[in-house]
Amino acid sequence: MYKKSIDLIAVYPGSFDPPTRGHIDIINRASKIFPRVVVAVTCNYNKKHMFSLEERVSMMKEALFKVNNVKVESFSGLLVNYLDNIKSFCIIRGLRALSDFEYEFQLALMNRKLKEDVETVFLMPDREHTFLSSSMVREIAFLGGNFKNFVPKNIYKKIIKKISKENKSV
Ligand code: PNS
Repeated sequence: MYKKSIDLIAVYPGSFDPPTRGHIDIINRASKIFPRVVVAVTCNYNKKHMFSLEERVSMMKEALFKVNNVKVESFSGLLVNYLDNIKSFCIIRGLRALSDFEYEFQLALMNRKLKEDVETVFLMPDREHTFLSSSMVREIAFLGGNFKNFVPKNIYKKIIKKISKENKSV
């Protein structure tokens, strides 16, 4: 059983492939509520990633260098084990629309089943970001559309670079 703590660490896990302005919005909100926030980047075994784990961690670190109670880390394996390692019991997830709910509900309850005292807190991004997802950003980028407003500046440049590299190797 975890104790209430003024040092509570809230963990925002995700694949962040790539991080979007929607993710950054959620992190900023979380950083105002919780004393410490860890953005925990990992691999989602149901997705084929565009960026390596190291690249995603580095992009996230660059995008968040101004937020001082937020740390970016990576983990592998089960989220509940990672929470144990860093002595946290609190997961943050963003909820954009009703369509997110079923998956998020399932994930939250599964995590609670795996570890009883784990709690998931849902935060809503600004309305402006409710339609935004990493997979859409990837698709728009691959198809040559304009995705500049959907990701932080540093990440925009990294995506453009990655795509031009991949096009050259085809
Ligand atoms: O950004 P995503 O891809 O929606 O994030 C999903 C993520 C990474 C949070 C989820 O897949 C996860 O927690 N993966 C780690 C393995 C795990 O603990 N799975 C939950 C039980 S099935």
